[in-house]
Amino acid sequence: MIALSINGKSYTVDAESDTPLLWVIRDTIGLTGTKYGCGIAQCGACTVHIDGVATRSCQVPVGTVGEKHITTIEALAQNGKLHPVQQAWLDLDVPQCGYCQSGMLMAAAALLKDKPKPTDADINAAMTNICRCGTYQRIRAAIHAAANNA
Ligand code: FES
Ligand code: FES
Repeated sequence: MIALSINGKSYTVDAESDTPLLWVIRDTIGLTGTKYGCGIAQCGACTVHIDGVATRSCQVPVGTVGEKHITTIEALAQNGKLHPVQQAWLDLDVPQCGYCQSGMLMAAAALLKDKPKPTDADINAAMTNICRCGTYQRIRAAIHAAANNA
């Protein structure tokens, strides 16, 4: 049995220690906002925060997480208020199919926590997630909008 802290709640899950954290989040705990894209840490669809750091959960063995705090897209809004990136995403109609977007939002939220006013170069460096629909320009605009509104 493995103990996890996800979105402020404690869970004890029956999983092998080398099971990817993504599978535990989605299949065992049932938080399906975090997506599976590539499984090899390339696309970013599975991005969650581990102690505030944007992390690709498909390549994190669940047994290595320990007492670190995991946050998923389901807890990005707090106290009924959207995170500034979520509001900006809505305002600018960022998503197309939407599949990559929870990972994008988690990466963007982590970026803004570290750099409240990111430059385009900061965005290029931090936002390495892949969007097959090519929403990159709207994502960039929404990150700047969120930075201005925060
Ligand atoms: S599913 Fe994890 S990076 Fe693609
Ligand atoms: S909105 Fe479709 S993959 Fe990004």
